[in-house]
Amino acid sequence: MNKFSLLMSAAAISTIVLPTATFADGTVEVLHWWTSGGEAKAVGELKSSFEAQGGTWIDSPIAGGGGDAAMTALRARVVAGNPPTAVQLKGPGIQEWAIEGSLNDVDDVAKAENWDAVLPPVLAAIMKYEGKYVAAPVNIHRVDWIWANPEVLAKVGVTEVPTNWDEFNAVADKLLAAGITPLAHGGQPWQDATVFEVVALGIGGADFYRDALVNLDQAALASDTMVKTFDQLRKLRGYVDQGFSGRDWNLATAMIMNGQAAFQIMGDWAKGEFLAAGKAPGKDFLCAPAPGGAFVLNSDSFTFFKVEGEDQLKGQQVLASLIMSPGFQETFNLAKGSIPARTDVALDKFDSCAVKSHEDLTAAIAANSLVPSMAHEMAVSRTVRGEIMDVVTNFFNSNMSSADGVQALASAVKRVQ
Ligand code: GAL
Repeated sequence: MNKFSLLMSAAAISTIVLPTATFADGTVEVLHWWTSGGEAKAVGELKSSFEAQGGTWIDSPIAGGGGDAAMTALRARVVAGNPPTAVQLKGPGIQEWAIEGSLNDVDDVAKAENWDAVLPPVLAAIMKYEGKYVAAPVNIHRVDWIWANPEVLAKVGVTEVPTNWDEFNAVADKLLAAGITPLAHGGQPWQDATVFEVVALGIGGADFYRDALVNLDQAALASDTMVKTFDQLRKLRGYVDQGFSGRDWNLATAMIMNGQAAFQIMGDWAKGEFLAAGKAPGKDFLCAPAPGGAFVLNSDSFTFFKVEGEDQLKGQQVLASLIMSPGFQETFNLAKGSIPARTDVALDKFDSCAVKSHEDLTAAIAANSLVPSMAHEMAVSRTVRGEIMDVVTNFFNSNMSSADGVQALASAVKRVQ
């Protein structure tokens, strides 16, 4: 046998041997709330990639946009001493569970794969507890978007999404006059809070948003700017249809698709719905950053709970590595509507909304106008968020004056601080 054929047979052996050696087994029970069309497609990518590596995936979906029901279920599981292997969890919630001593770290994987070098520092910090990675991020979602149906807008002679709230109100009034529902909305507290934070950003800008909804500064919470934010929220209440109460967010997105309403104010998981329904951006739907010239950040990540057994521990390591692999970050985010958490994944296959998101994210980091989402658990504790959501939802569903709303907001936050 000459040298060449020796090499060839070595290669042949390794191609036979390697797959078994690199096939990872491991089992994960994954708790998440991705049950809408676009969400299910995206989490399906994670499941099938994990299974393709030889792992066993036990799916534990808890329906309910924004994840409030999932977080209640998680608490019950942990209290019962039976946590899931991996949980979709984010922002300060990661720290809260880590402080309770409930999380395993995946720092060996993170070090071996040099996650520090490929994640934006702002995101890496959220994923770590006491310097070690306890979470792996799948994406970067942007919350401050307005989605629109161009055909519906054309009915009132409008071709573009408004760029400030006065303009928005003017277009919405025209739509109302034409018998068209201006705003598709689902009256659930987290959706009310989503709209509220987007409006606050548009009225007051990034510094105001940060002072009020991240630093919980009393002066900002009780300011005239906050009164104006509530005024605009009251306006928006007049633009929703009769059936808005309790509606799921993806059904509101469907109203845009079906031409039953003109706009939806929602994060770019809404794009996942449009795409899953075969709709194309720029043609069937428009995406435009909401007023504010900033970027409201929401990143989904998975944490790894303290579980027993080699199989599950291995599953955690394999899942962490898979989540952060460039190929997965591309496939997953193409379905989810978000952009990769890794900074080194090319966006060639992504649409114009994703490219805009990436451009604006980069600009916002440079201009210090990147702000974390309060509504999506990136900014404040669950307790504070709960108080803010209560006030916003009560305001939205009553005749409360803006001044009273602001007063209620400031005192609710003070009470739990
Ligand atoms: C967000 C989450 C998104 C999306 C949305 C609606 O909080 O980050 O991934 O799923 O809820 O369920």
